Amino acid sequence: MSIVFHEASKEFHLYNDSISYIIKVLPNDQLGQLYFGGRIHDREDFGYLLEFANRPMTSVLQDYGFSLEHVRQEYPAYGTTDFRLPALEVLQADGSRLTDFTYESHRIFGGKPGLENLPATYTESDGEADTLEITLRDKLLDMKLILLYTIFNGENAVARSARFENHGENPVQITRAMSLCLDLPDCGYEWIQFSGAWSRERQMKVRRLEQGIQAVSSARGHSSHNHNPFIVLKRPTADEFQGEVMGFSLVYSGNFLAQAEVDTYNVTRVMLGINPFGFSWKLESGETFQTPEAVMVYSGDGLNGMSQTFHRLYRTRLARGVWRDRVRPILLNNWEATYFDFDEEKLVNIARAAKEDGVELFVLDDGWFGERSSDSSGLGDWYANTDRLPGGIKGLAEKIEELGLKFGLWVELEMVNPDSDLYRRHPDWALQTPGRTPSQGRNQLVLDFSREEVVDCIYQMIAGILSESKVSYIKWDMNRSITECYSRAYPADRQGEIFHRYILGVYSLYERLIRNFPEILFESCASGGARFDAGMLYYAPQCWTSDDSDAAERIRIQYGTSFAYPVVSMGAHVSAVPNHQLCRNTPLETRGNVAYFGAFGYELDLQRLTDEERCTVRQQIAFMKEYRQVIQYGTFYRLQSPFENNIAAWMTVSEDRKTAIVGYYKILNDVNCEFRKLRLKGLDPNMRYAVEEKDGWFYGDELMKSGLVTTDASAGQPAIGEFCTDFWSKIYVLKGIEN
Ligand code: DGJ
Repeated sequence: MSIVFHEASKEFHLYNDSISYIIKVLPNDQLGQLYFGGRIHDREDFGYLLEFANRPMTSVLQDYGFSLEHVRQEYPAYGTTDFRLPALEVLQADGSRLTDFTYESHRIFGGKPGLENLPATYTESDGEADTLEITLRDKLLDMKLILLYTIFNGENAVARSARFENHGENPVQITRAMSLCLDLPDCGYEWIQFSGAWSRERQMKVRRLEQGIQAVSSARGHSSHNHNPFIVLKRPTADEFQGEVMGFSLVYSGNFLAQAEVDTYNVTRVMLGINPFGFSWKLESGETFQTPEAVMVYSGDGLNGMSQTFHRLYRTRLARGVWRDRVRPILLNNWEATYFDFDEEKLVNIARAAKEDGVELFVLDDGWFGERSSDSSGLGDWYANTDRLPGGIKGLAEKIEELGLKFGLWVELEMVNPDSDLYRRHPDWALQTPGRTPSQGRNQLVLDFSREEVVDCIYQMIAGILSESKVSYIKWDMNRSITECYSRAYPADRQGEIFHRYILGVYSLYERLIRNFPEILFESCASGGARFDAGMLYYAPQCWTSDDSDAAERIRIQYGTSFAYPVVSMGAHVSAVPNHQLCRNTPLETRGNVAYFGAFGYELDLQRLTDEERCTVRQQIAFMKEYRQVIQYGTFYRLQSPFENNIAAWMTVSEDRKTAIVGYYKILNDVNCEFRKLRLKGLDPNMRYAVEEKDGWFYGDELMKSGLVTTDASAGQPAIGEFCTDFWSKIYVLKGIEN
């Protein structure tokens, strides 16, 4: 058991080979936080790590003589001597918001319990992890607060959540319930967030932590393009390969808050959970409220160490289903090939060409249903448009299967166009505030997924199609943020619940679909990557990373995404040039070289390419088929950042370290440049590696310590015809030589 409780000191020590997490029951029976970091020896009493000083202006707890303002806590409340932002807040019948949750009991057990109706990491056997469940009680309210901590034996990760139970007679309103709170003893960190906008998601932003509050959040109803529910604290001296780093990830897809508050004594309070802005949850007597899960990872091996832990954990113990461990089919999606302008014949021709070049899955995107000839109508009417598809989805899927391809389908189940049969039948099914004009985004409204009957109706429509047609893949899109959030199905004092209830409705529909159609591969999407979060990975093991498939932009987007999310989860496609988002031309080779590092596919009509380009496409597909196991399931290393350099690089290494694939990307060309080498990672130092297109072989240690020579034709005086171009790139394939 990797969790011990020391009776005398009332301390919990959660540890595995690499990390320790220590909690103490304070003299006032609330919980204090002692340590999170690299593994330290266990001992009976770490109480010296807490400072019970009284400073000028300090208010102290009457019976105990110390102040919560100066004590690091586990799940703090506001109002009794601590003035920082709290982890919880409960509005009571008399208007008071004070709480006093004190230790009552605990349980330690092997394995990890699931969270009802919420995504969460899991174990496959009890030996993989241990869980500590601490029950606290507020005696005045007769409420319980149950804090759950799971430490994974083989990973530097702790998963956390909180559950509230109202055993009192009166209802209360929970107005703040974070999933994770961590008080760190100092503030010597850099804060890293992954922010952006549509088509430039998850750009890495770094700044020094300072006194005061730094935060990212979403109030858009989904995790958003703007900020990702994932932040990193790193020591300023730490880098990709060494030093102390902590990553905090929320397993949730709705409104979130990720925050660090540094107080005047340089204590850092990290918080992660549902965004308290606009949130409240009425808890009647006898009811419970479960927060989403948050996962925190500690790495002593820099940012790559942290990312590799998230990758393994999320790939193997968050993603589920038959696709979890399978290499992903190479797909072709018709969106940028046709937009709304297609009929069955056109689609079959595109698919036939794709099959000729080796594609395995044809995906029909937006426009196949209802009266959908543009983005202004049809959402909500989930039956095939037989003008375009005379045989319906069933007929088209059969034709695609006859070509030897699998068939995939786009849906946007959470939305409705006012110009649709569904809206005409049920105008009250859209989220709208009474008396206010609803705003539209992309000519659509958001269905009220907090209502079971709405979710059920959508399920019936889509399940009908999936039951009668051979659909192997679903791309689940979501193309607008939520405004005027209000549900007519709930009373006034429950309107603060709607954002959360909405996302629970989304999860319930996903759960029902994956349970009843377990062979279907789901890819989540929200106008590109506006819902690329750990919550979604529990239902859909891959996600469309961004609508921006320009190769140069994608290097940054995929690099940023890789800090928390595994390569296999990133939908990455080769699209046409000039690129539809930027009008930029990049070489076909580079578009492939970037998209290889993901769930690979095409977003164009191959018939429009030249013979030479088709030949390149065939080579790309053959390459991906040969190496996708290594790329999608190997260990991924970021080598050189596109946020800091003109040259970016990453690599992946197979489990047996006999194969490695390096992606090397030069954004803008340069001339007469220096002699360049790239230091590789993760190889066997004693193994000899052959590097494709290079003579001889190299030892692993040589490649890691001295480096792989990457100098190209831009060094010195290139021979005619040898020039690189802007957006030039190269893939290096390394193969271990058997003795
Ligand atoms: C947004 C997605 O990100 C695109 O890939 C495409 O599916 C469109 N929606 C279709 O409307």
